[in-house]
Amino acid sequence: MRCFLAIVPPPETVLKIEAWRRQNWPTLAHPVKAANYHLTLVFLGNTDASQRDRLCLSLDAVDADAFALTLDDTGYFPRTQILWIGPGEVPEAAGRLVTRCRQLAGRAGIRTENRSWRAHLTLARRVTPPPSPPLSDPDFPIAFHRFGLYESIMASDGVRYRLLQDWPLHWRQA
Ligand code: 2AM
Repeated sequence: MRCFLAIVPPPETVLKIEAWRRQNWPTLAHPVKAANYHLTLVFLGNTDASQRDRLCLSLDAVDADAFALTLDDTGYFPRTQILWIGPGEVPEAAGRLVTRCRQLAGRAGIRTENRSWRAHLTLARRVTPPPSPPLSDPDFPIAFHRFGLYESIMASDGVRYRLLQDWPLHWRQA
């Protein structure tokens, strides 16, 4: 089962991002469906049931900090031809969560990449040539209260993601 750990913006923000995307890049050939918007924390690739069980059990015990970020930057990954929106500034708590998730995935026998995390939400795939910059700057502040384990399912009408389990993030008293 192909899986990943991710955070997902709330539905009202998803709709705003999609509307902004349509205004700025109305003619993309392969836009990501708004229902699929997410920021991957850790891509896990193919996993078996025992690896997922071990990962879920260890994530049950994680007591991670919640965080907020603002999607205020856009970019293009030339190698993967991805157009994305992302945060100009990544909160430390998000970086810590990714590090912890990678560590626990490794302990569950799941190999993950160890290059530095590039926080992004993919807006469109197979974008070529690189798109022009947006006409209006994005500005979507989001507070994340949960993170989840998702299955990626290939169907005839494209990919869809199914939430398998999720975990709370905790706001601390100052
Ligand atoms: P992307 O948005 O940059 O394409 C589900 O497929 C999620 O896992 C997507 O967010 C995708 O990132 C990411 N993903 C898919 N294949 C990957 C890979 N080989 N390495 C890292 N991330 C990958």
